[in-house]
Amino acid sequence: MKGLVLSGGQGTRLRPITHTSAKQLIPVANKPVLFYGLEAIRDAGITDVGIIVGDTWKEIQEETGDGSRWGLNITYIRQEAPLGLAHAVLTAEEYIGGDPFIMYLGDNIIKDGIKDLVDEFRARGPNSQILLVRVPNPSQFGVAELEGGKVVRLEEKPKKPKSDLALVGVYMFDAAIFEAAKAIKPSWRNELEITDAIQWLIDHGYEVVPHLVTGWWKDTGKLEDMLEANRLILDTIGERVEGDVDDASTIQFKVVIEKGALIRNSVIRGPAIIGAGTSIRNAYVGPFTSIHAGCRVENVEIQHSIVCENAVIEDLPSQRTFRIEDSLIGRNVEIRRTDQKPKAHRFLLGDSSKVELL
Ligand code: TTP
Repeated sequence: MKGLVLSGGQGTRLRPITHTSAKQLIPVANKPVLFYGLEAIRDAGITDVGIIVGDTWKEIQEETGDGSRWGLNITYIRQEAPLGLAHAVLTAEEYIGGDPFIMYLGDNIIKDGIKDLVDEFRARGPNSQILLVRVPNPSQFGVAELEGGKVVRLEEKPKKPKSDLALVGVYMFDAAIFEAAKAIKPSWRNELEITDAIQWLIDHGYEVVPHLVTGWWKDTGKLEDMLEANRLILDTIGERVEGDVDDASTIQFKVVIEKGALIRNSVIRGPAIIGAGTSIRNAYVGPFTSIHAGCRVENVEIQHSIVCENAVIEDLPSQRTFRIEDSLIGRNVEIRRTDQKPKAHRFLLGDSSKVELL
């Protein structure tokens, strides 16, 4: 069995970060989102993994490598344009070579992994098995309708959902999916939809069965979901202080401080993680915050946020009114107070940046 991880796409909902980098490499608890999927696939006993890449192929390849660090054998497959999940499947046809495979969306994280699903698929041998989770708001998802233990209909974002079972970004297929993906037509958004391909399987008598997940699952395609995934993962990473923390600082509750990090006169209230080579001075780092490597955070209050590598945040005005919250701060970003005249807010922001001021 092979793995197919989808890491192409446009990531329009995470602009401007995705103007310059792949959303699958955004760090959740200081680790790229994509790596959680690769680890889940490895833990399910699969070693051959194809990664679908698009315009951001170089960065993904550089960061992920040949997979040997996980004991995986990774092959990169270039998709010429993000023409849909079923198009990505077709792009991988030669690589898959008739084997059954698991398709995993590279921006998804599933708490309990996928071993149970893979084992069940191997034992039962349907043409396809899809992962489903009960959600309170099914009309925002692809929704599955079940009958007699099988999937009978899939509907994208239905106005009147027939169930509360949403499709999670993990699917098992055998070679029948290639026939389906070739038979369907592009949707209104001009993409070959995987839901249409699966519906084609059902309509042509192939067996599509559900697998319900009970633990949490997150699609990190939007800022709120990325922050939520960060919150959920930070809650599980335990405590480890290997950096240099002075006596004037307080470390409370589950906090990871990597080797080479410097904490001075600050409060770090976990769950939180501080990356190697980052310095935190006269600061409050509140719950559910990840600060990556090489950052400088001084005279700042921040919580429930993700800060990427080498960002500098310093001397923010009156800390009570300028606490940073619910934020995703990209690599090499600089946010600071200045006494320069005229007194004004000055911004250099990329397209689609968002700033909310008090
Ligand atoms: P989506 O989040 O559905 O699409 P997107 O990445 O283009 O994002 P947005 O809607 O914000 O513009 O994609 C799910 C995953 O599948 C993601 O990891 C990107 C990947 N993908 C491909 O590899 N090829 C594709 O053609 C598409 C549409 C997505």
